[in-house]
Amino acid sequence: MINVERTFVFVKPDGVLRGLIGEIIKRLEQAGLKVIALKMLKLTREQAEKLYDIHKGKHFFEPLVNYVTSGPIVAMILEGPDAVKKVRKLIGKTNPVEADAGTIRGDFALTISRNVIHAADSKERAEYEMKIIFKDDEIVSYKRVDEDIVWFTE
Ligand code: CMP
Repeated sequence: MINVERTFVFVKPDGVLRGLIGEIIKRLEQAGLKVIALKMLKLTREQAEKLYDIHKGKHFFEPLVNYVTSGPIVAMILEGPDAVKKVRKLIGKTNPVEADAGTIRGDFALTISRNVIHAADSKERAEYEMKIIFKDDEIVSYKRVDEDIVWFTE
């Protein structure tokens, strides 16, 4: 049975400032994932603390919140079969030193503090995180012309 799900991703300020928005969206789209919401914004401290609430109290929490609120981000919701797992695979391990070549972090990042992109790690977290950034009416429903082929399962 096909498991179509939605996930939440954002290109971090390092990715935006380095001009990687297009390259990142290209990689996600070419895998067959459908962009159903997209927005550039500067996160407020409150939004960042909510997005990273599970890391509260850890040594990297404050620097992380300071960093992701320091510049523009590009947030998106992606839809497709097993989207959460697939996006995590395309992005690579959190620490770019361990991320495989061919993944976004493997190809474009060197340190864990500037790892270019964030992606939700479960369906539940994806739904929680996307609600911090997107209203329901900012999510668009449409059919990609290649969906019947790329999403095909028997
Ligand atoms: P991200 O996938 O956005 O989730 C939490 C972020 O915290 C992570 O990517 C890293 O950019 C950042 N971070 C900084 N230090 C660490 C660390 N020691 N362990 C995990 N994440 C870290």
